[in-house]
Amino acid sequence: MSTSVVVSGSGLWTPENCISNEELVDSYNDYAEHFNRINQVAIEQGELTAKPFSSAEFIQKASGIKSRYVYVKEGILDIQRMYPDIPERCDEQLSDQAEMALKVAKLALTAANKQAQDIDVVIVACAYTQRSYPAIAIEVQGALGIKGFAFDMLVACSAATFALHRAYEMISAGTAKSVLLINPELTSPQVNYCDRDSHFIFGDVATAMVVESSDTASSKHVFQILSTKAVTDYSNNIRSNFGYVSRANDADPFAADKLFHQEGRKVFKEVCPMAVEHIEEHLARHQLTAENVNRWWLHQANINMNTLITRKLLGREPAESEAPIVLDKYANTASAGSIIAFNLHHQDMQSGDVGVLCSFGAGYSIGSLVLKKI
Ligand code: COA
Repeated sequence: MSTSVVVSGSGLWTPENCISNEELVDSYNDYAEHFNRINQVAIEQGELTAKPFSSAEFIQKASGIKSRYVYVKEGILDIQRMYPDIPERCDEQLSDQAEMALKVAKLALTAANKQAQDIDVVIVACAYTQRSYPAIAIEVQGALGIKGFAFDMLVACSAATFALHRAYEMISAGTAKSVLLINPELTSPQVNYCDRDSHFIFGDVATAMVVESSDTASSKHVFQILSTKAVTDYSNNIRSNFGYVSRANDADPFAADKLFHQEGRKVFKEVCPMAVEHIEEHLARHQLTAENVNRWWLHQANINMNTLITRKLLGREPAESEAPIVLDKYANTASAGSIIAFNLHHQDMQSGDVGVLCSFGAGYSIGSLVLKKI
């Protein structure tokens, strides 16, 4: 067989702590009740808006999310705090995201049957990095003793698929021999746990993949990347505004617009048709249709979005095994969602089976790969 670019291994690291909808809603409702009580006069005079109450049933029905994992649970459910209590580390200590990245990198390297010295590029791709520089990827590269180069890239929910595109191009061009991509999605610090509309959306996780040439791949589960496809289209509907200029703006880091916020309904309506069109065009490049696809590893933001997209593509309801859902346990993990789905649902695939890995989210950004089991 001629040389191709392949995904030769992947890893999933899940934090120990999880928060169920019920726990999250109990804490939020206590907070809302307290807020409304201490601000009763201002609310009655129309100077403040009363906090509405949240419901676990609404969350599950509207999003499909039942629980989420978090890197640090302390602080999130404390109604006097409502954000994680993550102790600051000094410059000499490993950063939180590098720690998450290292845990999952080792799993992906083992799955790919690779040692750190086989890798020459590390990409850390996620929705947020905890500092501007030095790159988290270079910290991970150093900790693993990898020779070569490393960089971070941020494309919100499409960071992982866009990084896979870069890896595919580097291996194709011969500028890298083996790329380790890591998605340490530490989303909880940017969640507004005081906002009923968004407090349930995100979870923390880390995923990783190894991309290399088929000539060097020696693992059990190898997937050829047939091609990649990306599109972006500017939208204000999903934003997180806190950044390094915020201090110069004298901005309040706790202000709702500095944290994750979105127009969820608009996102739903606009992104679903974009994703369907994108995937159809991508498959057509290979003279494939949705019916030829054995597995859909889709972005995990909302179960109703995924059902709508696969129903439009297939003209029927997808079987659970065709389009696996992981967001019930993991919630929205930004760019890692489709990679979690791949991690948990690829080992049963047969040689020649085709899968679509696709992310869609803030930007807007859509990234897809068509993969074929070797
Ligand atoms: N508990 C109870 N009620 C809630 C609630 C909660 N936690 N959150 C919102 N509601 C209420 C709303 O206030 C609204 O009430 P109203 O009709 O009286 O105004 C009603 O429920 C419906 O709210 P809406 O925001 O329209 O719900 P929705 O069905 O669109 O679901 C999302 C909300 C966020 C789950 C959904 O829009 C979504 O997932 N969109 C896609 C977002 C996405 O993919 N983003 C990418 C992020 S990276």
